[in-house]
Amino acid sequence: MKILVATEKPFAPVAVEGIREVLQAAGMETVLLEKYTGRAQLLEAAADADAMIVRSDKVDAAVIEAAPRLKIVVRAGAGYDNLDLDACTAHGIVAENTPGQNSNAVAELVFGMAVMAVRNMYAGTSGTELRGKRLGLHAFGQVGRCVARIAAGFGMHVSAFDPFCPPEVMREAGVEPADSVEALYSASDVLSIHIPATAETRGSIGARLIGLMPKGGVLINTARKEVMDENGLTEALASRPDLRYLADVRPDCAEALAEAYPGRVFFTPKKMGAQTAEANINAGIAAARQIVAFFRDGDTRFRVNK
Ligand code: 3PG
Repeated sequence: MKILVATEKPFAPVAVEGIREVLQAAGMETVLLEKYTGRAQLLEAAADADAMIVRSDKVDAAVIEAAPRLKIVVRAGAGYDNLDLDACTAHGIVAENTPGQNSNAVAELVFGMAVMAVRNMYAGTSGTELRGKRLGLHAFGQVGRCVARIAAGFGMHVSAFDPFCPPEVMREAGVEPADSVEALYSASDVLSIHIPATAETRGSIGARLIGLMPKGGVLINTARKEVMDENGLTEALASRPDLRYLADVRPDCAEALAEAYPGRVFFTPKKMGAQTAEANINAGIAAARQIVAFFRDGDTRFRVNK
């Protein structure tokens, strides 16, 4: 049985080794396709795969159709907006993710960016501290919860807005539930975005919400670029010279923003929130184990398609 690990952005070698060991112990062969540069390579590699492990790699209808033996695809990570769930369902393929396995890495990067912002991008000028400041979490899922845990160490006051999370869960984590998304943005010195990219959330954060942030506000996006309304973001940065925007998910207008607002925006060259050895090991090995459990026991606990 062939398990294709297709990662345009490779896992750390130690994670690949772990995946290989888990699959080998179950009598499965690991086929590695890393740093591929064209779709043709992915389609070719998928041709004889019984299962696939991917990261943000796009698994669309063309990939599914090129893989007649495919039974399961596991996104080693949280967001599965890169998987065409309808195409998977139509071909009887199980689609899964590995929730929580890379969350801490993303949460740590949020603080890497928050400190960078309040220290004026390390320009040497006098900045401010995070202690005593208000941190807002736009969604309280796995990453939001890790961010809240770390924020406690910084001495920040944390609130969150998440219509899918019961307020008691937030309170138990020492987080104040916000009544509305507007209330959250209005009361957050640092606002960290953790919503997935869905039909409802795409383009949902724009000038109206960003403009509610208090003076000197720092907006951090380690989630998805698609949740931003880029025109609205540009408008907000133009009309509010005190605001800053840092993202691990480069907007399409990154170069224009960097040129127009030096010192107020920062973008990682490539999405690297989950790019740690630990996150790669956790998510990669979880994906391998889920594949073994699927073929051995029919386990579909982490299924995300119908
Ligand atoms: C996720 O959804 O798990 C993160 O965005 C990480 O994505 P990556 O595996 O492409 O780094």
